[in-house]
Amino acid sequence: MKIATFGASGATGRLLTERCLAAGYEVVALVRRPAEFVYAGRVRVVEGSAFDAEAVRLTMEGADVVLSALGARSLRKEDVLERAVPLIVSAMKEVGVQRIIALGSAGALDDSLKKQPAWRRWFVQKMVYNTFLKWAVASQASQWKMLSGSGLDWTMVMPPLLLNKPGRGTFRVDGEALPRNGARISREDVADFMIAQIGSAEWVGKGVYIAW
Ligand SMILES: NC(=O)c1ccc[n+]([C@@H]2O[C@H](COP(=O)([O-])OP(=O)(O)OC[C@H]3O[C@@H](n4cnc5c(N)ncnc54)[C@H](OP(=O)(O)O)[C@@H]3O)[C@@H](O)[C@H]2O)c1
Repeated sequence: MKIATFGASGATGRLLTERCLAAGYEVVALVRRPAEFVYAGRVRVVEGSAFDAEAVRLTMEGADVVLSALGARSLRKEDVLERAVPLIVSAMKEVGVQRIIALGSAGALDDSLKKQPAWRRWFVQKMVYNTFLKWAVASQASQWKMLSGSGLDWTMVMPPLLLNKPGRGTFRVDGEALPRNGARISREDVADFMIAQIGSAEWVGKGVYIAW
């Protein structure tokens, strides 16, 4: 099994890479700074940006599955997903890769919060999604639009706040909305869930919310 990874140098991407290697998968990672990438000696590295169509295509060649944990490194408007996801989708079609499992966010859709208590829905929407996370939310909405209209075998995994804590191994998943009072989850649990999707058809063509 050959996995093409985007965002492999990030906090969740490193966990995905580690798990792919532990599973014996061959990994190709597109990274901007290979010298700083801890897995550089153990995966095939394509040096470049996810905004470079040729680098994206090279990363994809011969892959069975694409994993993405791409995102902006700041809360400013960087348009990372707006720019990269269309290139990833095009390259997948060009080289004939059908399956993508992408890290999204619970803020991607308007009805993400419909299972929350009213006070929490108000607070998260008005004080978080509409304010300091507005560019991240816009990026994730864009990723949703691209993937859901792609015709690929896509899965978008949509967590709330990500923590660098040990995974619990148990969490709630929901195909409709963020589970009630689900406010956080560890990156380890998210990475384990994303890796499990490689061999599962359960969430193909769907978004899936995941929270403790
Ligand atoms: N933080 C949260 O609480 C939270 C909650 C829900 C969802 N999310 C979503 O989860 C995703 C990942 O978050 P994270 O905190 O694990 O990631 P992160 O540590 O911020 O890492 C982002 C990754 O994207 C890469 N990247 C950005 N622009 C790139 C470009 N132009 N070309 C190539 N690579 C590029 C970065 O590469 P470099 O190493 O080169 O910078 C890095 O590998 C994001 O989309 C975020 O919106 C986050």
